[in-house]
Amino acid sequence: MTLKRSKTVQLKTARGRTASSQRWLRRQLNDPYVQEAQRLGYRSRSAFKLIQLDEKFGLLHKGQRVVDLGAAPGGWSQVAANRVIQKTSGQIIGLDLLPMEPIPGVTLIQADFMSQDGLEGLMEICPDGIDLVISDMAAPTTGHAPTDHIRTSALCEAAYDFAIDVLVLDGVFLAKVFKGGSEHMLLERMKKNFKSVRHAKPAASRAESPETYVIAKGFRGI
Ligand SMILES: C[S@@+](CC[C@H](N)C(=O)[O-])C[C@H]1O[C@@H](n2cnc3c(N)ncnc32)[C@H](O)[C@@H]1O
Repeated sequence: MTLKRSKTVQLKTARGRTASSQRWLRRQLNDPYVQEAQRLGYRSRSAFKLIQLDEKFGLLHKGQRVVDLGAAPGGWSQVAANRVIQKTSGQIIGLDLLPMEPIPGVTLIQADFMSQDGLEGLMEICPDGIDLVISDMAAPTTGHAPTDHIRTSALCEAAYDFAIDVLVLDGVFLAKVFKGGSEHMLLERMKKNFKSVRHAKPAASRAESPETYVIAKGFRGI
């Protein structure tokens, strides 16, 4: 599902807004994914990134157990719940630092994934293994690209360590990484532990954003 930009909307008045908030508002008003997310009831335009990655890589299937890391405000969990939950099968666990409004069929945990408590809390509710770990976690940006890269890489690496502990055989790992792809050492580990490792930038990811995604399929176990 790729969307095209329609006619540009201009702000009629600045109404005391700063230049950067005017830029943000203009971008929101002209973003077809923001409009479509509102129309379909998704909490974030990010929902379309997961939809597009799923269309390309076939990630989500009925009955899966899915962990969504960095889930707030909940767009990815909503997409996963729609595509995975069927009657009594399928389970989604969404974790974030931030509180989230409930999503039917999704177990929400508010915790820091990088803390011992957050990680242990999550491990406790995945005793039977997980089919898919998805991570859209991003550290707040500092504007200093190398720092942002390092912090988001650290989150991706921690998500990966968690994934290889909980994934079932043939399980799948999807995570946000910053441009340049995954860190070399992490990529080498992924290639050993999974049958295929690919990078992709979905159309809904803004061209100016350094984000891209790594998709590792076919967990071999360790
Ligand atoms: C880009 S947003 C995720 C958007 C989400 N996928 C959606 O579709 O609504 C990134 C999220 O990562 C979360 N995050 C960053 N560091 C985290 C950490 N250490 N533990 C848990 N969540 C974290 C942030 O709070 C933020 O909500």
